[in-house]
Amino acid sequence: MFFFTKMEKTASEKESNIVLALDFPYEKPENRNALFAKAERVLEDVHPYICAVKFNHHLVLPLGTFDGVQKLVTKAHDKGLMTIMDCKVNDIGATNQAIAEYYYAAGFDALIANPFIGWEEGLRPIFEVAHKQQRGVILLVYMSHRGATEGYGQTVIDAETGSKMPQYVSFAKKALKYSADGAVVGATYPEKIAEVHEILREKVPIFSPGIGAQGGEIAAALGAGARYLIVGRSIVQAENPAKSAEEIRSLAKIRK
Ligand code: XMP
Repeated sequence: MFFFTKMEKTASEKESNIVLALDFPYEKPENRNALFAKAERVLEDVHPYICAVKFNHHLVLPLGTFDGVQKLVTKAHDKGLMTIMDCKVNDIGATNQAIAEYYYAAGFDALIANPFIGWEEGLRPIFEVAHKQQRGVILLVYMSHRGATEGYGQTVIDAETGSKMPQYVSFAKKALKYSADGAVVGATYPEKIAEVHEILREKVPIFSPGIGAQGGEIAAALGAGARYLIVGRSIVQAENPAKSAEEIRSLAKIRK
């Protein structure tokens, strides 16, 4: 739970529970220097209003983990921010172990994994690497997009207890059991946030993406129990990213 504690400390020091999703639309690979410069600029402008930066394939693919992305991770750390890799790890254990080791070696404080893979030879190696290196693992519980209902929303018979429950309830219970550092529940489903929060309480914080561009609302997500808001396009693609981040942060502060 090392990451969990550091996130709390950073959020309190920065007086912000906003995690910036540093995502940009596709750029031709030959434009990747300009992409790097854009990412650096947004980070520079927005850092006073956020507590963490979440990276995704939008930057890892064009910039490379140990080239551009590692530099941005270091820059985020220099600004006192935490860093999360949204790689949604979803493979067999040996592969997951390598994925986790590479991202933690690049400096990431936490990564996001998909609990659909199960514990043995799935999540377990990720948690083992994370514990050894005092880093975090955040688990998906209910994704923010519309199709999430087909997987995360289906009714399942829990393999351990034999009882019927929604998939996301089973995942929330697992996030608690494995002492995950966070659970992702889309801001687009505040009723699911509330249900998951009932299970997790303050033991596992809810990270909620989907504010703004995907239609989720700050007040509804926080009111239902989200601890951190993940915001990408509403900040990154705003005419003035710093102003947008500042506004989102103050709205989030009022609603907390
Ligand atoms: P926007 O631009 O919609 O960006 O504010 C959201 C960011 O979060 C990612 N995303 C998710 N990540 N579980 C995740 O782990 C989710 O349910 C989820 N929904 C969105 C998205 O890829 C982008 O980086």
